Amino acid sequence: MAKIEIKLADIPEGKNMTFKWRGKPLFVRHRTAEEISTEQAVDISQLRHAETDAERVKDPEWLVLLGICTHLGCVPLANAGDYGGYYCPCHGSHYDASGRIRKGPAPLNMEIPEYEFPEEGLLIVG
Ligand code: FES
Repeated sequence: MAKIEIKLADIPEGKNMTFKWRGKPLFVRHRTAEEISTEQAVDISQLRHAETDAERVKDPEWLVLLGICTHLGCVPLANAGDYGGYYCPCHGSHYDASGRIRKGPAPLNMEIPEYEFPEEGLLIVG
């Protein structure tokens, strides 16, 4: 299966970049210290799909996601919505900066693909 190599230095802090991987949008977000602390502090008992931030990231600075809304598959917009993460304009799903569904019709958090950081500054997805 195809893998994609991403140089993390190309993604400034606070930015989400979209790549294409196996025909799907792949989001890589360089999270700020504030985003990290906000997501780590979320009370998961309030979540529709209860996952801690630590379960969703290997390195808190980097969120790696399939950029596909779990409602009907639109591509959410980055840095939008009520929770500072992503907003799907198709039917109004709001995701946080951990890619977790917080409001709107989507049933699940956005999917995390297999990935690794084989060396400093390098991400391989797949
Ligand atoms: Fe995203 Fe419906 S496809 S809210």
